[in-house]
Amino acid sequence: MKNKITRFLALLTICLTPFSLISCNNKEYKIYEKYSSYFKIGAAFSKIACDMYDDNLSNEFNSMTCENEMKWEYLQPSEGEFNFLEADEMVEFAKKHNMKVRGHALVWHNACPQYVFDTLDETTNKIRARTKDELKEVMRNHIRTVISHFKDDYVYAWDVVNEAINDETEEGKEDRSNIYRGSDWYKILGEDYIVLAFKYAKEIVEEENLNVKLYYNDYDLANPIKRDKALLMLNHLLEEGAPIDGIGMQSHYHLGSFSMEYFEEAIKAYSNLGLDIQITEFDVNVYDRTKTYIDWYDFELPESIEKIQATIYGRAFEILRKYKDNISSVSFWGVADDLTYMDNDITLPSNGHKNYPYIFDIDHNKKLSYYEIMDF
Ligand code: GLA
Repeated sequence: MKNKITRFLALLTICLTPFSLISCNNKEYKIYEKYSSYFKIGAAFSKIACDMYDDNLSNEFNSMTCENEMKWEYLQPSEGEFNFLEADEMVEFAKKHNMKVRGHALVWHNACPQYVFDTLDETTNKIRARTKDELKEVMRNHIRTVISHFKDDYVYAWDVVNEAINDETEEGKEDRSNIYRGSDWYKILGEDYIVLAFKYAKEIVEEENLNVKLYYNDYDLANPIKRDKALLMLNHLLEEGAPIDGIGMQSHYHLGSFSMEYFEEAIKAYSNLGLDIQITEFDVNVYDRTKTYIDWYDFELPESIEKIQATIYGRAFEILRKYKDNISSVSFWGVADDLTYMDNDITLPSNGHKNYPYIFDIDHNKKLSYYEIMDF
């Protein structure tokens, strides 16, 4: 009898093992699940994307950024009048899909109404630039009101300052000494506006005891020239006691622009400052911006191009996994190719032509890039 039971149990084990193995191997992980021991995986959603995209797409991520809806001109379109309606609806959407939210962006030269910098002088009845003190007050009020509104129920990070670094100067691209973009913020407050923004943000975070991290966010931060400028700026911020937790590397690439070496060097350099890193706006434009095109991929993305794009995504994620201890989240600047700002972006040579920058295609199917990212 004992023998019979032993044999039966052995047989049962043999029969069940392959099934359990198969079902285990075949479990379809969502991207965020596959990366759960690495970093958060996020995407930028517009309000339209929230309304349009089904659960299958939204459930791939555990972090969401509002593409535009938390920018200054959306939240405080006229002075003192805040409008949180759309942003709140989007936070609800994030909540429904178990995504935390990256707040983007508090202080930026774009999407910022002119009243921020100019005001009506009551004595002369003419428009004039704000004084330093006036601008500081406008900035402080915006930062405090917005951070305090969203608290930390879902929002876990804020881009406090976006794109303060100068790309190109009159002396040319090689000039590393001219760090700051000549925005209205800079013109009125000088470089201190960045330190101030972080201090104002930290003030309210501490007053309300919020668990929210504060980031400096910019594009092209792996480019050695811009990286060196960023390092100078970040060192200055740290010396001045700016309460900065990390750096957001936007990571907008195009077909001809990704360098594994530069990407890795930059991640190492920012980590060496003791800063956390988030990849905040990752996408890969399928047109090489250094080339002149006659044929655009207006109707279809050629497979050969999709493969090159997938290689870029794959290589970048290989590096990101290697530095997982220094990286807390990685977000794409969009979800699927049917909805992308790149189709109509006047700063791009491909403006007006169909682009395919993401890891889901126009029909929401997984692209080669998706599989590259998941293949480890
Ligand atoms: C920058 C901004 C984003 C978005 C993109 C679009 O990266 O940070 O909010 O506007 O540009 O190009």
